[in-house]
Amino acid sequence: MLNQEFIQNLEKKSLAMLELATTPSELGQCEIDILGRKGMMSTALRALADASVEDRKAFGPKLQKLKKSLEVAIADRRKLWEEAEEAKGAALFDPTFPVDPVLPIGHMHPVTQIVHEIEDIFSKLGFAVADGPELETERYNFDALNFPKNHPARDMQDTFWVKTDTREHYLLRTHTSPVQVRYMEKHTPPLRVIIPGKVYRNEATDASHEHTFHQFECLVVDIDVSVANFLWLAETFFTEFFHKKTKVRLRPSFFPFTEPSFEFDIACHLCDQKGCSVCKGTGWLEIGGAGMVHQNVLVAAGYERGKYTGFAWGFGVTRLALMRYHISDIRLLLSGDTHFLSQF
Ligand code: PHE
Repeated sequence: MLNQEFIQNLEKKSLAMLELATTPSELGQCEIDILGRKGMMSTALRALADASVEDRKAFGPKLQKLKKSLEVAIADRRKLWEEAEEAKGAALFDPTFPVDPVLPIGHMHPVTQIVHEIEDIFSKLGFAVADGPELETERYNFDALNFPKNHPARDMQDTFWVKTDTREHYLLRTHTSPVQVRYMEKHTPPLRVIIPGKVYRNEATDASHEHTFHQFECLVVDIDVSVANFLWLAETFFTEFFHKKTKVRLRPSFFPFTEPSFEFDIACHLCDQKGCSVCKGTGWLEIGGAGMVHQNVLVAAGYERGKYTGFAWGFGVTRLALMRYHISDIRLLLSGDTHFLSQF
């Protein structure tokens, strides 16, 4: 029966239904149930058509007003959801959103930067770049390089041995020299190659010693290669690297894989050889080891004994990085301290 109470109930019921609709499709169903052709509102309006003139006058406008307000309520709710959806999409991806200018951007590690510089210099001189495994076998790290079986360098003090069940003994390579042999096994002279890489030593660390550091190996093998060729190459390289004419000095030394063997020093460019704290007053900086490749190594790599000669040298890239950037403690380089690294 169409009366005030009926209209109030219709309103209450409709609003309760709207309240329960929590998704767009539930809201759509609500709209059909309330305002659709067979919905509650249409049923009420049809009842109005059959009502008396007074009732029509009394309740007609009220019903129409209720109908309007329900239409608005549904439209409002729908709009609210649509806006929320849009905002959600914008939060996921907004191509117009400006990039935060203070967002930190990473860069190459200082040692990697130095390695790239060295590679550039040698590439211009026609050298190939090679690498080898850091987990190395005793055969390549020591045997093929002419280390006697009982050589102290194989000792537990220097070498990180790796436990395996294999007959071959594994270790973390102690130098980049094993890659000399690996490279020669695959190539025939003339060859010119550089081998940058990480090496490991089982030793106590301090400001100038680190268990993990970068080395740089250089190998030239051909017919009639001499120490003079090595000296020329070393001076050319360091002069390029320091952008300054740099003298190289050789001192006699010993490595099982070279004969003769040298330690080589470069003129201290910090004090122009006058003597400073970095070169400890000598005017020279120790840089690395070098020598003419031992014939036993050439034979271990599969070459005919006596057919070729060559030189090899190896130096610490880490050392060059310390010199280039005046870093006083080698351990900073692997510290992962972004405060320190962000300076380079
Ligand atoms: N491998 C030697 C070292 O780690 C350096 C070296 C390389 C010496 C090549 C001679 C020739 O100390």
